[in-house]
Amino acid sequence: MSTVVIVGAQWGDEGKGKIVDYYTEHADVVVRYAGGPNAGHTLVVGDDKLIVRLIPSGILRAGTRCVLAQGMVIDPAVLVSEIDELERRALSPAARLFISDRAHVILPFHVTIDSLREGSQRGNLPLGTTKRGNGPAYEDKAARRGLRMGALRDWASAESCIERAIAAWAPVLRDLGAEVPTARAVADWLRPLAARLIPRLADTSTLVEEAIRGGKNVLLEGAQGTLLDIDHGTYPYVTSSSASAGGAAAGAGIGPTRIDSVVGITKAYATRVGEGPFPTELHDSVGEKLREDGAEFGSVTGRPRRTGWLDIPALRYAARVNGLDGLAITKLDVLTGHRELQVCVAYETGKGRTNDFPIEQLAQPDGARPIYEKLAGWSESLAGIRTLAELPKAARDYLAFLEQRAGIPVCLVSVGPRRDQTIDQKNPFLA
Ligand code: IMP
Repeated sequence: MSTVVIVGAQWGDEGKGKIVDYYTEHADVVVRYAGGPNAGHTLVVGDDKLIVRLIPSGILRAGTRCVLAQGMVIDPAVLVSEIDELERRALSPAARLFISDRAHVILPFHVTIDSLREGSQRGNLPLGTTKRGNGPAYEDKAARRGLRMGALRDWASAESCIERAIAAWAPVLRDLGAEVPTARAVADWLRPLAARLIPRLADTSTLVEEAIRGGKNVLLEGAQGTLLDIDHGTYPYVTSSSASAGGAAAGAGIGPTRIDSVVGITKAYATRVGEGPFPTELHDSVGEKLREDGAEFGSVTGRPRRTGWLDIPALRYAARVNGLDGLAITKLDVLTGHRELQVCVAYETGKGRTNDFPIEQLAQPDGARPIYEKLAGWSESLAGIRTLAELPKAARDYLAFLEQRAGIPVCLVSVGPRRDQTIDQKNPFLA
């Protein structure tokens, strides 16, 4: 039995959905421990595609229990629509979906504030958020006026909680030119959704602990990525939760000693959506080719993703702050068709060359300049390849370079979106 954290090693969108789905073959319980509907996992089953924002990817495997844990913020309307969509596809999640009664609720005014704040010139920093209400909901949580899922069982307490939050946000809403809702109107919106979700509420902290003690395999699924983590990311251009492995224990409601290993997911190149530093970003036809070949458009917002070369110092940083045991490399197939590849191996900063990720200097314009090494590309399609030995030599060299420079063993390589397009080197659940 194992408890494994799967975490994004870059700025999110590393392809965690596919990897979590792949590893879930061995998992009895899959737990989403942070974030909310700002995430979007595209799940591919056969020729079918399905985007989930809240429900863990494990829902596709019959028998796997899926947990929305206490570190999350949940938009009840989004969750109910995901449950409906799964039921329409005869993937009935009814008996297998558990929602933490300590997770916080995203209310409609959180979404309004998140959207309007982004567009407002009034002293707000545009972050390029997904406008799903995550930030304001976590702000209410930290301000100790948040509405927890468990409060939905008691309308009097839920309504007074909503009232407190509205009172606090009213000046902001007015300043943004938005209507201030009444607690009653919000409660009326919430009531039918709550009726659908209350039967699924549980003390998921105990549920996960009991699964671990009972010898089950547990997968803790991260959302977003290390460089978007509120503490470890490129602050302030980050999300509002602890996306990295450190957040997995608190978010799932278990002790850190229960975690056996941490797998980091990285694309074979790099992408970012929203604002903020992205030192290896490409603004040319090479970046455009990566975007086209990799279908790099946000699964939640549809925004084109910024694209660039792989950043080894950033990967080493992710390895350190997450304590990575293994690296899963996704989308290696997307690099097919480049005569030459570049990889950032170090940075030139005002203080000289460094092999570290200069996260603080990145906040300043021209604070750090990436230094690249060039590697040979390849032209062969990788879609049908199932072992490392079958890869073209240049692709093998690229992986070996990455593994050696990042200092983390590669445990999996993905060469396409389908489950079978996976080279599984060392499965953390079979170790
Ligand atoms: P928020 O999480 O919607 O508040 O957005 C904060 C930042 O995180 C923005 O730059 C978003 O584009 C980014 N972000 C949030 N969720 C994801 C994700 O799932 N993938 C990639 N970027 C994300």
